[in-house]
Amino acid sequence: MELKDCIFNRRSVRKYLDLEVPREMVGEIIQAGSMAPSSGNLQNWGFIIVRDKSARNKMADACLQQDWMANANVHIVVCGLEDPSKHHYGLRGERLYTVQNCAAAIQNMLLTAHDLGLGSCWIGGFDEGMVKDICDIPDNVRPQAVLAFGIPDEKPDIPKRENIYNMSFFEEYDSKVEDSDECFGYHGDLMLKSLKSSKETVEKKTDKWLDKLEKHTKKFLNNRKENK
Ligand SMILES: Cc1cc2nc3c(=O)[nH]c(=O)nc-3n(C[C@H](O)[C@H](O)[C@H](O)COP(=O)(O)O)c2cc1C
Repeated sequence: MELKDCIFNRRSVRKYLDLEVPREMVGEIIQAGSMAPSSGNLQNWGFIIVRDKSARNKMADACLQQDWMANANVHIVVCGLEDPSKHHYGLRGERLYTVQNCAAAIQNMLLTAHDLGLGSCWIGGFDEGMVKDICDIPDNVRPQAVLAFGIPDEKPDIPKRENIYNMSFFEEYDSKVEDSDECFGYHGDLMLKSLKSSKETVEKKTDKWLDKLEKHTKKFLNNRKENK
């Protein structure tokens, strides 16, 4: 799936079919989380995978009785490990960077789930003590979010998004320009041209990369055969 489609079409899904999410997909989701940027590359997160039905029921309860969650086949509790961040960056690290690191990992996981055809939802409304009890989370680790994943049984419409002009300022906070279309290069076909050329570059590079990968794999398989 194209990155742009993935970003634009991902939705929070709250209705799921009673089907299992393959373990490989859970692995891919966690892998994607682990690839997120983090302050000083600390990777101070932990991901608790919850599949047990009765634990999921308890989790839905801990998430302020969001009962629909129990039908999501997998929950992932994203935990922030505050100690390493505090050690390196003080209060800013403990409070701000830990939250940001986890948020970056979460977004990677949600987008990957969408790319895999799964539905997902970010849940921030929960009783921290209850979530800690369910998953036996130690004192110095803070659950930042519970993520629900499953085979979607709904295709929600996009909730209203603000116009980007209302959230964008130019050079200084609150400073607008008269013609913001000009600033975003929406006039003429300039943007389309630049998109086309980036796409071509990426395609060329990807082809080369695939060739390399094929060669590498063949070499690996040959070596293995010889060593057997
Ligand atoms: C920090 C955070 C907390 C959220 N908490 C909840 C929640 O507790 N329950 C829920 O159903 N959705 C929750 N959401 C999902 C938002 O409601 C949803 O992202 C928003 O309505 C936009 O919809 P979309 O994700 O389909 O674009 C949360 C999202 C974020 C980023």
